Amino acid sequence: MSVRDILLFPDRRLRMKAREVGEFSRELAELAEDLLETMYAAPGIGLAATQLGVMKRLFVMDCSQEDEAKNPRVLVNPRIVWASEEKQEREEGCLSLPGQFAEVTRPATVVVGFQNLEGADFEEQLDGLQARCAQHEIDHLDGKLFIHRISSLKRQIIARKAKKALREAQQNKSEVDKE
Ligand code: NI
Repeated sequence: MSVRDILLFPDRRLRMKAREVGEFSRELAELAEDLLETMYAAPGIGLAATQLGVMKRLFVMDCSQEDEAKNPRVLVNPRIVWASEEKQEREEGCLSLPGQFAEVTRPATVVVGFQNLEGADFEEQLDGLQARCAQHEIDHLDGKLFIHRISSLKRQIIARKAKKALREAQQNKSEVDKE
């Protein structure tokens, strides 16, 4: 198990569509462990394989509250099979866009079809934070970030700020490297 580097916007791999998982191998289980470890270390509540540059359709999430037991989830080949007409607006962030947040409107409740690490099929109704998180992560697997769900004006503002923050972080890093 290891904590891996999370790709940061505007890395173009974040815009790539992940491929279906066909083999439920030991490597897949190890990838899921790395995803969970990387997500908890960040810390975050969801992480998609594409954010580690692995173009496979799986993500992990843990939407438990601080005072609750951990609830690590692994969803392989996830898809939205039903979405409520009722929408909800809520602030979202993303580990690939550190420090950036925006209000995003999404269906309040979804039914997600997925497989587990052994390839067994499930369907589960999610609402609240879990519905929000699952939709955000499935978007990642389709090469979409939360900024692609908001107005182009807001997207441009966030993109500019994120690129500036990344440049500054890289500059600081190269100065530390020189010392
Ligand atoms: Ni994200």
